[in-house]
Amino acid sequence: MKNDLGLCKKEIIREIKNSNTLIGRDLHFFESVTSTFDKLEEFKPKEGLTVAAVCQTNGRGRLGRQWNSKKGGIYFSFMLLPKENVEEAPFITLICALGVQKALSKYADCLIKWPNDIVCDGKKLCGILTKANLTGNSIKSIYVGIGINANNGNFCDELSNAVSLKELCGKNVDENKLLAEVLEEISHAYYSQSREQILSSYKKACVNLENQVTIHYANGKGDEHGICKDILPDGSMNVQTKNGIINVNSGEVSVKGIYNFERTNL
Ligand code: BTN
Repeated sequence: MKNDLGLCKKEIIREIKNSNTLIGRDLHFFESVTSTFDKLEEFKPKEGLTVAAVCQTNGRGRLGRQWNSKKGGIYFSFMLLPKENVEEAPFITLICALGVQKALSKYADCLIKWPNDIVCDGKKLCGILTKANLTGNSIKSIYVGIGINANNGNFCDELSNAVSLKELCGKNVDENKLLAEVLEEISHAYYSQSREQILSSYKKACVNLENQVTIHYANGKGDEHGICKDILPDGSMNVQTKNGIINVNSGEVSVKGIYNFERTNL
C-alpha cells in the first residue's frame, strides 16, 4: 500500500467498499491514459463502470479545449445507461455537478457555475464533460468525465483561473477518499433523489442565479449580457437581457460579480 494520499487502486477500492456508491463499484484504474474517456470506450456498456487515472496525456475539456491532467489531480469517467430520451441529457449533467459540489463542499466553500463547473471564489476547482451516445432519439449511454484539482496546483498563466483543494485547504487531501465521496454523492443524487429535490438543491448551489452572466456563443454570434433568472427542469438557463428573457441551452457562460456573492443555505 502506498503511504501518501495519491490515487492508488487498493485504497480507492477500500474507500469505495466503505461507501454507499453504486457508480464506481466496477472500477478500472490506470497510472496513465490518453484520456479516461478513451479507456471507457474499450469496455462493454455497463451501468456505473468507472475508469480513473493518475494522469492523462490527452485530457479533454469543453469546447475542444485541453484539460491539464498532471499527477495530483483526480481524473475519472463513468458510464450511465439511462432509459430516457436525448432531452434528459442536460439534466444528467446538472445531477453530476450537484453531486460533485456536495462532496467538494466538505473541503472548501464551492458553488456550481452553470452548467457544470465547480468554482471557489471565482476560480475553477473542477470541470465536468458529458457525452451522450444516441440511437435515434434515445440515449444509448452517457459518458461523464470529471477532473478535480485536488493536490495539483502552481497552475501556469494560461490556467490562472484554476485553483486546487490543496491550495484552498493549505494541505494535501486524501485523493482516494475524495474520489469515493464524489462517486457516492453523484450516486445518491442520480439514483435516490427526485427531479424536484435536485433542481432545488442545484439552484441553491448555483453561483449564476440572480447574478450577471455573459454568454459567449460558440458559433461566433457574439456575446450577450444579462441576469440569470432561473434554471429550468430541462437544464437550460433563463437570462433577462435588455431585449427580454432568453433561454440558453448551450455555449460558454462567464460569471461576473461572484466575489460578492452571498451564499444561501445549501
Ligand atoms: C471542462 O472543460 O470543464 C471539462 C473538463 C473535464 C475533464 C475530465 S478529466 C477526466 C475526463 N477525461 C477527459 O479527457 N476529460 C474529462
